Amino acid sequence: MDKSCATELARAAGVNLWKFRGRELLPVVQGGMGVGVSAGGLAGTVASFGAVGTISSVDLRRLHPDLMERTGTLEGPDAKAQIDAANKEALDREIRRARELAQGRGLIAVNVMKALDQYETYVRQALESGADALAVGAGLPLDLPDLARDFPHVALVPILSDARGIQLLVRKWEKKGRLPDAIVVEHPRLAGGHLGAAKIGDLQDPRFEFDVVLPEALAFFRQAGLEGRIPLIAAGGISSPEDVRRLQGLGASAVQLGTAFAVTCESDASLAFKQVLAGAKPEDLVEFTSVAGLPARAVRTPWLDKYLRLQERMQKAAHVKTHCTMWFDCLAHCGLRDGNAAWGQFCIDKVLGHALAGDVKKGLFFRGAGRLPFGTQIRPVRDLLEWLVGSVVPANQPEALPA
Ligand SMILES: Cc1cc2nc3c(=O)[nH]c(=O)nc-3n(C[C@H](O)[C@H](O)[C@H](O)COP(=O)(O)O)c2cc1C
Repeated sequence: MDKSCATELARAAGVNLWKFRGRELLPVVQGGMGVGVSAGGLAGTVASFGAVGTISSVDLRRLHPDLMERTGTLEGPDAKAQIDAANKEALDREIRRARELAQGRGLIAVNVMKALDQYETYVRQALESGADALAVGAGLPLDLPDLARDFPHVALVPILSDARGIQLLVRKWEKKGRLPDAIVVEHPRLAGGHLGAAKIGDLQDPRFEFDVVLPEALAFFRQAGLEGRIPLIAAGGISSPEDVRRLQGLGASAVQLGTAFAVTCESDASLAFKQVLAGAKPEDLVEFTSVAGLPARAVRTPWLDKYLRLQERMQKAAHVKTHCTMWFDCLAHCGLRDGNAAWGQFCIDKVLGHALAGDVKKGLFFRGAGRLPFGTQIRPVRDLLEWLVGSVVPANQPEALPA
């Protein structure tokens, strides 16, 4: 699918292209997915079709055998500095790989979670290694304009979930002389991974519905004199061209998908990982409180099932540890290490690492709540994009949702 073909497909299907910072893009963003699910391979492939590919910055050394050989079994107080250095190097390699694949087409974004201990390091590395955009969620990135001050050409894209958060962030950033270049509006009832609600009981709150938050955000932009200046990207549960048209009708410029890209051929996770996500039924999904203190959504695998049975007991026994079990301290605040009994009590880096490698018994498999466009099939990125913007049903695909 070359760019002009995609443009024609989108026009014929009634989907608007996205004019963003002087470029004409497919209105589809592949969301950042850690650990290692969306690295340079997936993000670069998505961008090569004229869409937006996002590299998740967290613990990318896991995709590099030489870096894992150097750091995979390190212990002791000196381990962290070496692990962090390996991850910096891995992020640089993945951004280069994505740029090579994209050949100047589309956009390459880097996702950095505010909750990470090395948030600033990853932001600085992404800027220096030539990312086109930074997408930051899992916390309010109020300091991002300062960190990116010397890189005005890099788009800054916070990930938020309700109109109140959007208003707060835009007001604070305005005082720093910078507006978000776009905002991802991620729906906590539908998305995968960490969710933008304070607690599990809030996930169903109507304020997160797209037909509430998108009009409210647009009304705020109008009243603040910012009309047409901050494109909105709707994320969570999107699987068809009908969804894209509906959300564009509500005022979104583009849509972001996670799970559907995680199960493409080009996603950087193992085949077993993709099969767990693609094979999960709605009743297999579960919401729980992560070690980062946020609600999260994942597939109920043997590890998660066991953890949830033991969770209460573990929370009662929570206590401050002398050090992180992995000597890595991936999160700035970790329920397990810091003995925070209200938060999760497991090592997230370890279980996400198991999932990446396809260990169905020991891994934590984040997944969105929605149906996948191609059911249980693992298909190329091209098929997914042609379906979303052009209503093209791939050959041998009886399961594609109605357009
Ligand atoms: C396996 C997986 C890992 C994810 N990891 C991250 C992450 O590291 N950072 C982030 O901001 N969002 C993360 N997300 C959220 C996605 O970027 C995306 O916004 C969300 O999945 C959209 O919902 P969908 O899966 O229904 O399309 C993750 C989602 C999945 C499924």
